Amino acid sequence: MTTDTAAQAAYVVAALLFILSLAGLSQHRTSRSGVVWGIAGMVVALAATVGLASRSITATGLVLIAVATAAGAGIGLWRARVVEMTGMPELIAIMHSLVGLAATFVGWNGYLDVDAELSGSLLGIHHAEVFIGVFIGAVTFTGSVVAYLKLSARIASRPLTLPGKHVLNIGALVAFVGLTIAFVARPNMGLLIAVTVVALALGAHLVASIGGGDMPVVVSMLNSYSGWAAAASGFLLANNLLIVTGALVGSSGAYLSYIMCKAMNRSFISVIAGGFGTPAAAAEEGEQGEHREISAEETAELLRDASSVIITPGYGMAVAQAQYPVAELARKLRERGVEVRFGIHPVAGRLPGHMNVLLAEANVPYDIVLEMDEINDDFAATSVVLVIGANDTVNPAATDNPSSPIAGMPVLHVWEAANVVVFKRSMAAGYAGVQNPLFFRENTQMLFGDAKQRVEDILRGLDALDSPVREMAGTSG
Ligand code: TAP
Repeated sequence: MTTDTAAQAAYVVAALLFILSLAGLSQHRTSRSGVVWGIAGMVVALAATVGLASRSITATGLVLIAVATAAGAGIGLWRARVVEMTGMPELIAIMHSLVGLAATFVGWNGYLDVDAELSGSLLGIHHAEVFIGVFIGAVTFTGSVVAYLKLSARIASRPLTLPGKHVLNIGALVAFVGLTIAFVARPNMGLLIAVTVVALALGAHLVASIGGGDMPVVVSMLNSYSGWAAAASGFLLANNLLIVTGALVGSSGAYLSYIMCKAMNRSFISVIAGGFGTPAAAAEEGEQGEHREISAEETAELLRDASSVIITPGYGMAVAQAQYPVAELARKLRERGVEVRFGIHPVAGRLPGHMNVLLAEANVPYDIVLEMDEINDDFAATSVVLVIGANDTVNPAATDNPSSPIAGMPVLHVWEAANVVVFKRSMAAGYAGVQNPLFFRENTQMLFGDAKQRVEDILRGLDALDSPVREMAGTSG
């Protein structure tokens, strides 16, 4: 068997392993094995690619590949070890930017190093591939860099609204089509530089125009773009595995974006077109009224007297790492006969499934962790809702203020409960940068401070309430 045949066979094996990996990752239970299949696929793919390359490159080239692989693996392992769960989306965004950059370089290389055997229409196809690869790669690169900056709060998450922003986006697409036709007819470096600049600007503008609330969709959309960029590189390099893998990533990313848009009641086209058709961000809604505060001890009393409690966690629970005391609180209340359940919004936190993973880590039983649709009708019959570090996902403006930037996004109807206690550190807005009228409702009370410390205070408060000495003293905190 020649090296080429062996490599192509290995590519088929790797492609199958990637498909198994995706299947495994689609369910909580099988996700670990999904990761293992993915690693195995990547090892096979890398070995086959190096084997193929070793036929035609010098020893220096092989050493360079080894150095690059070791450096890449080292950086990857280091980042994966140190990244916080809450920092995952920005890590993914910056990795997508590298895929985009690589695709842009591959495209440029395809122009500078044209296969001498290509001629006629094949040469035209090659040049179209170069141009499309550079375009998708450059859009992915700057789009991902801007997404990284927004997600890591290095720049503001509110949408950029340049005058005529949709005309700019459509103009860039029209320019791309025109430049592609010109390049295929008469390839030259000036046109390639022009499309690179247009695509870099388009990627940055598209993502900058998208508001904070829609960022989850942007992350998965960039995931999809990076897949298509890799597939475009696969065509240029005549590498079947890159084409298959790119198509898998591209289509699964597009499907995930679609599912998330449905979960957030957003139009897919409107989000990927940089917020096309969405209402302009409402100006600050101004005075909302007075908010009321509650202490941890008073919250403990409220919980002691409750018959049913729903806990709706969000990003703040993850930041505070409050899942362990929260699980302990749920356990204690259940021991007292209180019905305790968790209500999980599909985009609570910073990535889908974020809350479920944290609660599973703290051993909260699966059967009391319910999805938004399963629990939304039950709030009205609930004594106390504890909103722990969640904000946008419990914002009533989404349902009753059509001019709100998050209007139409499904939210947890926590305000229908008899009592709502909101755990946060200040009156600051949530990720989407929108004020939350929930905080000013009559049945809502704010419990300020770090969520972990406040939940621990409540646990102590419950213990104190159990102690007869304190009960006799009638301490209320
Ligand atoms: P957010 O709307 O971001 O609200 C989090 C809240 O937690 C804030 O109000 C913050 O208020 C509070 N907080 C932060 N640290 C805290 C701490 N140590 N102790 C107590 N409270 C703390 O979160 P959410 O309700 O989970 O909504 C998710 C948002 O993120 C949505 O807008 C969603 O679109 C977006 N997003 C989601 C994803 C995915 S895929 N799920 C990805 C990116 C973005 P203080 O600062 O006042 O404490």
